[in-house]
Amino acid sequence: MENYRLALIGFGNVGQGLAQILRDRGQELAQRYGAQFQIVAVSDFLKGSLYDPSGLDPAQLLQANEQDGHLHNVEATHRGWDALETITRSNADIIVEISYTDLQTGEPALSHIRAALAGGKHVATTNKGPIALHYPDLADLARQNQVQIQAEGTVMSGTPAIHLGHEQLAGAGISRIQGILNGTTNYILTQMESGAGYADALADAQERGYAEADPTGDVEGIDAAGKVVILANLLMGESLTMNDVQRTGITALTAEDITNAREAGERWKLIGMVERANGSVQATVQPLRLSFDHPLAAVNGATNAITYTTDLLGDVTLVGPGAGRIETGYALVADLLAIHRAQS
Ligand code: HSE
Repeated sequence: MENYRLALIGFGNVGQGLAQILRDRGQELAQRYGAQFQIVAVSDFLKGSLYDPSGLDPAQLLQANEQDGHLHNVEATHRGWDALETITRSNADIIVEISYTDLQTGEPALSHIRAALAGGKHVATTNKGPIALHYPDLADLARQNQVQIQAEGTVMSGTPAIHLGHEQLAGAGISRIQGILNGTTNYILTQMESGAGYADALADAQERGYAEADPTGDVEGIDAAGKVVILANLLMGESLTMNDVQRTGITALTAEDITNAREAGERWKLIGMVERANGSVQATVQPLRLSFDHPLAAVNGATNAITYTTDLLGDVTLVGPGAGRIETGYALVADLLAIHRAQS
């Protein structure tokens, strides 16, 4: 049995989702895969910071958070460490970086990940900022320090879009990737088609934990653009930046636009795409009207879909959850198991 100690940097929706899975399925994971994942530290800017080298009980963390809205009353040997202290001073083997996403600077997550890798600790993250902006550097740093960086949850939550593209399709020659890459906007568009107003649909998406802390990132297509950059750079060997993506969000779409499309047998979808053709790369995020019989038109709610166009297999499509607490928590479990597999 291999034991991995985890430090969670952030304890929002995703951290709680991970804690819930470890609480409910930790034993099963240990039995089936021979890997025991133990949370030893949590450092959250708002909820508090605690470290216990002999482990923290995920059930207790969740209960305290539900009851008090913070972790100050959970017993631990050390408390009050900030994120960097937690990364450098705790005995964690894996740093789970799930602080908030900033797609302009990648910070503070970028510094957290650099400190972890430089200190010889593996990283599992769902944080799009550092991965979209600095993946090649971070991957180099991981290699130099003989540790891993895994980021499944940055695209399509726990639906294995990254692992599929990176591993199983590695030799198939991916020339284009396109899909519905943002759960919040797909949820809003689906709700609006059923008659809901934009503001109510957005509030609903926020309540369900799909939206970013600042939902402007979702509705303006910034989140989807970040994912396009991640897909291009991780799976197609490109080195795009956020500015390389031509981007339009859904904020200009009206109830009338949606009705007009429906009457014409079409549906609006926010589509992200990156394509390599004639030696250049084109990357876009834009709302498109798709006919009802288009495969992506049937993908509704917070569900996402991605189609990889490859030289050897033609189109390969993956459909699954794109956001949500347990769904994104699961992405981290997939990353932890990938780290474990690479050790054994
Ligand atoms: N806000 C994102 C979405 C979360 O709605 O898809 C998952 O990246």
